[in-house]
Amino acid sequence: MTTKVIKLSPKNPDPKAIANAVDVLKSGGLVCFPTETVYGLGADSFNVPAIQRLFEAKQRPSDNPLIVHVGDFREVSLFAGDIPPKAKTLAGQFWPGPLTLVLQGKETVPDIVRAGLRTVALRVPNHAVALALIREFGSGVVAPSANLSGRPSPTTAAHVLDDLRGKVDLILDAGSTEIGIESTVLDVTVDPPVILREGGLTREQIEQMIGPVRSTDSMELLKRSPGTRHRHYAPRAKLMIVGSTMEIESIAKSGKKIGVIFHSFEPSSFEAKNARKLSADVKKFAHDIFDAIRELDEKGVDVILVEQVKERGIGVAVMQRLRKGEE
Ligand code: TXA
Ligand code: MG
Repeated sequence: MTTKVIKLSPKNPDPKAIANAVDVLKSGGLVCFPTETVYGLGADSFNVPAIQRLFEAKQRPSDNPLIVHVGDFREVSLFAGDIPPKAKTLAGQFWPGPLTLVLQGKETVPDIVRAGLRTVALRVPNHAVALALIREFGSGVVAPSANLSGRPSPTTAAHVLDDLRGKVDLILDAGSTEIGIESTVLDVTVDPPVILREGGLTREQIEQMIGPVRSTDSMELLKRSPGTRHRHYAPRAKLMIVGSTMEIESIAKSGKKIGVIFHSFEPSSFEAKNARKLSADVKKFAHDIFDAIRELDEKGVDVILVEQVKERGIGVAVMQRLRKGEE
């Protein structure tokens, strides 16, 4: 299969390009598109053979369910039965945006989407290209991140091509994504709701609207979101979080080829041929972290050392991903 790439404006996408992408989805094809978080790999949420191809293209384990992307809150009732008041409040405040809600699924939602669970995950992405595509398509687009399973999520069309060239029909290229890490996944089938994945929307933002939410322990997470047991965000190289340049020096002495991603270390205080400085502003750091990991990975280093960030705001989600990468 040849993969076609269409460049388009992130703010005013060409309707012809969108119509083209809708045709591909309607005929059971796979379309990668940008959202405000990361690029997604889209398929028709009711076309089971297309979704099977999506799982194959990503080499995704079949027990990891998919997020259904809808164009509007009203479409939720196509997929979810009971919609609790807290879910309505959050959707009203944060959609379109980087929040995925896990709700009771309707029987009509194909099993493959839910990986056999009774729940279904839904979100309305905040990106003109994604919204135009989903609204024009009309009935829900499943879209996991458009990377090979286990690799960092893609934040540019070039990342998508690196992982999925020849495996998808079309990539809509609208430049790099704004947030750079994935949506927050919140299970609202229980009260208080449970955060299954930290992400682009912070816990404080959620709690301001609906009061306290819970975190999960690993046993509960396994029950509610079995797919999370798989290795995520892992480059080929080993990933390690470091808090000081002394740690870098001692790991460098072991003779391993190291890459360093840092934001506040003094560059002259450590030696590394492959180093990339990111912004100390945690939002900008989040925007660039997956790109930096991919870049150093391509240089063939054995270990990527990442300077820790403060666990505040989106820094919580960044650290959660780095820890997953360390496993
Ligand atoms: O920002 C995002 O969420 C991106 C963009 C493309 O929208 N998508 C994304 O999808 O990150 P994916 O498949 O890479 O991650 C979806 C996460 C996984 O951790 C999955 O296990 C969880 O959501 N999930 C999906 N459906 C679920 C369900 N019914 N119950 C619990 N967790 C679910
Ligand atoms: Mg993913």
